[in-house]
Amino acid sequence: MMAIVSSSGDLLALLTFLICLLHHCSAGYDVESVVGSGNLLSASLKLVNGTTTFGPDVKRLDLTASLETDNRLHVRITDADHTRWEVPEDIMPRSTSVSKDALFQSLGMDNATLPSSATISRVSSDLKFSIHSNPFRFTVSRHSTGDILFDTSATLVFKDRYLEVTTALPAGRASLYGLGEHTKRTFRLQPNDTFTLWNEDLERSDLLDLNLYGSHPFYMDVRSGGNAHGVLLLNSNGMDIVYGGSYITYKVIGGVLDFYFFAGPSPLAVVDQYTQFIGRPAPMPYWSFGFHQCRYGYKTVADLEEVVAGYTKAKIPLEGIWSDIDYMDGGQDFTLDPINFPANRLRPFVDRLHSNGQKYVVIIDPEIKRQATPNEDFFLKRNGTNVVGRVWPGEVYFPDFINPRAAEYWAHKISEFRRTIPVDGLWCDMNEPSNFGAWQPLNALDDPPYHINNSGTHRPLNNQTVPVSTVHYNNVSEYDAHNLFGLYEARATHAALLKDTARRPFVLSRSTFPGAGRYAAHWTGDNSARWDELANSINTMLSFGIFGIPMVGADLCGFRGNTTQELCSRWIQLGAFYPFARAHTERTTERRELYVWESTARSARKAFGTRYRLLPYIYTLMYEAHTTGAPIVRPLFFSYPQDADTYGVDKQFLLGRGVLVSPVLQPGATTVDAYFPAGRWFSLYDHSYPLTVATRTGKRVTLQAPVDSASVHLAGGNILPLQQPGLTTSAARQGEFHLLVALAENGTASGELFLDDGESTEMGGVGGNWTLVRFSCDTAMESKGIFATTVSSHVVHNSYTPSGTSVIGSVVFMGLQSPAKGFTIYVNNVEVKAARTKSLTSGAFSVSGLSLAIGKEFQIKVVMSH
Ligand SMILES: *[C@@H]1O[C@H](CO)[C@@H](O)[C@H](O)[C@H]1NC(C)=O
Ligand SMILES: *[C@@H]1O[C@H](CO)[C@@H](O)[C@H](O)[C@H]1NC(C)=O
Ligand SMILES: *[C@@H]1O[C@H](CO)[C@@H](O)[C@H](O)[C@H]1NC(C)=O
Ligand SMILES: *[C@@H]1O[C@H](CO)[C@@H](O)[C@H](O)[C@H]1NC(C)=O
Ligand SMILES: *[C@@H]1O[C@H](CO)[C@@H](O)[C@H](O)[C@H]1NC(C)=O
Ligand SMILES: *[C@@H]1O[C@H](CO)[C@@H](O)[C@H](O)[C@H]1NC(C)=O
Ligand SMILES: *[C@@H]1O[C@H](CO)[C@@H](O)[C@H](O)[C@H]1NC(C)=O
Ligand SMILES: *[C@@H]1O[C@H](CO)[C@@H](O)[C@H](O)[C@H]1NC(C)=O
Ligand SMILES: *[C@@H]1O[C@H](CO)[C@@H](O)[C@H](O)[C@H]1NC(C)=O
Ligand SMILES: *[C@@H]1O[C@H](CO)[C@@H](O)[C@H](O)[C@H]1NC(C)=O
Repeated sequence: MMAIVSSSGDLLALLTFLICLLHHCSAGYDVESVVGSGNLLSASLKLVNGTTTFGPDVKRLDLTASLETDNRLHVRITDADHTRWEVPEDIMPRSTSVSKDALFQSLGMDNATLPSSATISRVSSDLKFSIHSNPFRFTVSRHSTGDILFDTSATLVFKDRYLEVTTALPAGRASLYGLGEHTKRTFRLQPNDTFTLWNEDLERSDLLDLNLYGSHPFYMDVRSGGNAHGVLLLNSNGMDIVYGGSYITYKVIGGVLDFYFFAGPSPLAVVDQYTQFIGRPAPMPYWSFGFHQCRYGYKTVADLEEVVAGYTKAKIPLEGIWSDIDYMDGGQDFTLDPINFPANRLRPFVDRLHSNGQKYVVIIDPEIKRQATPNEDFFLKRNGTNVVGRVWPGEVYFPDFINPRAAEYWAHKISEFRRTIPVDGLWCDMNEPSNFGAWQPLNALDDPPYHINNSGTHRPLNNQTVPVSTVHYNNVSEYDAHNLFGLYEARATHAALLKDTARRPFVLSRSTFPGAGRYAAHWTGDNSARWDELANSINTMLSFGIFGIPMVGADLCGFRGNTTQELCSRWIQLGAFYPFARAHTERTTERRELYVWESTARSARKAFGTRYRLLPYIYTLMYEAHTTGAPIVRPLFFSYPQDADTYGVDKQFLLGRGVLVSPVLQPGATTVDAYFPAGRWFSLYDHSYPLTVATRTGKRVTLQAPVDSASVHLAGGNILPLQQPGLTTSAARQGEFHLLVALAENGTASGELFLDDGESTEMGGVGGNWTLVRFSCDTAMESKGIFATTVSSHVVHNSYTPSGTSVIGSVVFMGLQSPAKGFTIYVNNVEVKAARTKSLTSGAFSVSGLSLAIGKEFQIKVVMSH
């Protein structure tokens, strides 16, 4: 439906005039014509007030707005007369917007006769788009509440290499998250935060508020009351984004204004809609959820052997041992140091790892040594010749991963290397791309009129990377595609592993862009062994969950600088709950593998013991992430969006829906101040029932902080599938399952379990072998004083049938009506006398000795009399 919006033109003109006075008047546009029907609207805009700063204005703009789905609104503004750079469809597939001409034709309309203000909306969608004239601006609002979500000012600047638009926000009513990659002191955006997006290797990630390795022009906005929406500016050019509390301003140095609005209204719905658009997170292999150890400075195969042995001896889980560039011959990809990592030493070591259920992962960098250049022609070029950079091997060429032939070459080299050393995963470092050399400017691209705040000091774009005047395949300029380099490399690497192994790839990428989660995991880069870094790692981890890259973690104990036993212990306790848990250190630091000190070893056994028990739950969260985009680790407001006190919580986080982690983040702390949203909370360790928050809002509680573990609580209402810990994930997978049932106040709980072989290329999906079981629990009064609590399983899908059948051996109930005078247990309506039962701490009750096949539906009923 199209409707005219009354425009208070005079008032707006006055406001624009005042804004002009304040802000050295900037350009504005008028609406010339609008045409639209139903879900689609198209408008022509004409420049009215031009400015001269940053180059001439584009005179005529085209706007299209379309409700692409009920939950996604697309608004694109571009030059009406010239084609401009846009994120390529091959890396971000999307339905091309209907052209205005096609729209005119389909409507049989003449643009000149159309109204100059209009709205699109549809009954089934909560999003409404309105275009206003004159001057031109647009709003996006939420039907159900009338809330205005996006509200552009009349100031719109559209030049060849400078675009600027501002949107108003209701200060105090909007909490924003996302935009990055930046290390930040808080997860929630703070007024006056600025975000420069330009992929950069600063050689450290511990400096606050600077542009780092990846670019994510996406934010989630949670309004008081709990409704959330998401906003993506799909643009790969460099930009500054200023968050002023009551506004956001985008200052972009190229491309088009291509906005996508995701309706939510729950935070989980926003990430679902967002990842439906940018691509779902790649399934990660089961083994990747184990603990990994790395160090820049494992200089020989013997070093690796010693570390693996150290973990075995200390009985601390070790899934993967990793090599940084030490293994390479002269820093070159796909080579081995002939003295320290000869194939005839390394290969038997890797074979032994494999026979022990362990893995080997190596680093690769996106460059090829200059001398070693084959007669290939798919490298980045500038001024007609290959760009010669300086990285680890010395002078290098950079493969242009936009060129399909470079991706083929990459796949060939990876496959060839894996014949020598069958590595289990690849770690793509330096892919901003990083470069140590400096450049002379070549052309105007190298010095754009507007200087983004690169590295916080407006450094040239060419600093520490390849020059932006570099040319890619299809004449794409680095100026436009710089922020996509890591994404293209991750895609090529993922495809190469998939082809070579026919198994689920594991790729870890430092540089990312929206959609990188389809191919890769991410770590927070070169962090430091400092307490503030421990706390800040939560902010980055939560942000990447929102960016559709749920497999994320920071280097445990810090990469740079020496650590202390206390910091390292606390980091282990927190890091055991990172989706991706790896310790990695810089070569000039003292060795700090988790077994080196008794204190860290104790923390590691306890924290990773808990993690490995939780693996079936964590892996099920991976399945949820892959199918719905739900982050594995989430901020509290994802589960409690109505509780505004959760919006600022970033010293705690949730694993999935209901496992609350409250780590120690300060030296010398013996207590932790933790926030508990409404509901019941049980200790995950001893099943005690410490806390009921009965108020609608939550409660702050001071928890004792044991030296060897983080506080972890389970919210009533959740059922967790668990297994016994082991020293490898495959060992942990051998045992029977257990269910941990934490009842909500009303006696209900639910949960699920996903199982497959952990390495097939698909996770779930048609034709695959996988099993999904939903568990639910209810409590009913059977007769006066007699309560029955029943756990039932519902087998949603069951085609994963490993040789040893998976069974549930015991169920622990927490929060039963207690104390019970007596109880009777029925399995599938038959009383089971043989089941061993044990009353644990108050209200916890365990039933063991069961043997319930996961793939068969069952009911366990506990009848208690009081
Ligand atoms: C252009 O500037 C004039 C005078 O400042 C103002 O009245 C008018 O609203 C502006 N128009 C646009 C589209 O910015
Ligand atoms: C409007 O339509 C006329 C012809 O119908 C065409 O010449 C003109 O370019 C169109 N204007 C825009 C902005 O598309
Ligand atoms: C944001 O910056 C402006 C201008 O520098 C300043 O007036 C304002 O106090 C700052 N706001 C906050 C919350 O720091
Ligand atoms: C570009 O190429 C020309 C011709 O080979 C050469 O004269 C010029 O120095 C080159 N410019 C740069 C910046 O390398
Ligand atoms: C550039 O970034 C630095 C570091 O975050 C900040 O201090 C400075 O205010 C920024 N400059 C501008 C103009 O935003
Ligand atoms: C990057 O900029 C910094 C600071 O201006 C400078 O010290 C450094 O040499 C530059 N690096 C390169 C590779 O241009
Ligand atoms: C390549 O792009 C540049 C601008 O980035 C342009 O000047 C040039 O004409 C283009 N060349 C070709 C062959 O399209
Ligand atoms: C760490 O400590 C060792 C031994 O005291 C010292 O040699 C080394 O320089 C330190 N490393 C760093 C990065 O401070
Ligand atoms: C029981 O309580 C939980 C958690 O508060 C809630 O999600 C659920 O809807 C309730 N179920 C019933 C049947 O009331
Ligand atoms: C699923 O398992 C069956 C039986 O083990 C096997 O024949 C089939 O190839 C498997 N399918 C896939 C997609 O792995």
